[in-house]
Amino acid sequence: MLKVVDTHAHIHMPQFEGDRDLIIQNLEKDDIEFIVEVGVDLESSKKAVRLSYDNHGIFSAVGIHPHDVKGIEEDTLEEIENLAGFSKVVAIGEVGLDYYRNLSPKELQVKYFIEQIELAKRLDKPLIVHIRNAYDKALKILKEHAREMKVVIHSFSGSLEDVKTALSLGFYIGISGPVTFKNANTLRENVKIIPLNRILSETDCPYLTPEPFRGKRNEPKYVKYVVEKIAQIKEKNVELVADQLLENAKEFFNIR
Ligand code: NI
Repeated sequence: MLKVVDTHAHIHMPQFEGDRDLIIQNLEKDDIEFIVEVGVDLESSKKAVRLSYDNHGIFSAVGIHPHDVKGIEEDTLEEIENLAGFSKVVAIGEVGLDYYRNLSPKELQVKYFIEQIELAKRLDKPLIVHIRNAYDKALKILKEHAREMKVVIHSFSGSLEDVKTALSLGFYIGISGPVTFKNANTLRENVKIIPLNRILSETDCPYLTPEPFRGKRNEPKYVKYVVEKIAQIKEKNVELVADQLLENAKEFFNIR
């Protein structure tokens, strides 16, 4: 039996209003060992903590996404820090830089990326990083501020050079639905060179739905299509790969 883990989900989002409870109830039946529910702003971080507090098989991460840093107020990061004190909060995130959509000004993205890296460092928590169209800048910041820290670059979309840099810094690489997409040859080439013990499996649901469900809403159970694709690329037995990915997630998030 294939036990899988989704290290990056957003089931607090409205896309799950109709069947969130059912998805949670079915986690075990769907062979999902656990999921990490990831906040993107203060409200969703609170929801993530609540979901993890109330349910077996759910852990949480708290932080302010680069899209949302423009909404940060004086006490927001203090509240994030307080939330991080709850026992099932296993990481700070997602944080980072998004120069593709630029929903917050670049200077603010940089400022709060660094502040939240420093927060994670102070709290001794792993860091979940979102990067889009900003790999050079984000990796430079991480190199300066996040050495020796546990970091995952989630839903990795960088170049081969970026992978090498991230690996040289000891970072983990999050792989999600796009690895199954027809046109994602660069990503699959990247997966070939990432050691299996550095990969975290994830969905980023409700987004990035893998084939064969691309176009529909994503959900945690579809992580198995990501795991199968990774096994295929690595030319390894899928059970072995699933076991390793589960071990990686437990190791990364200190879940025992
Ligand atoms: Ni996300």
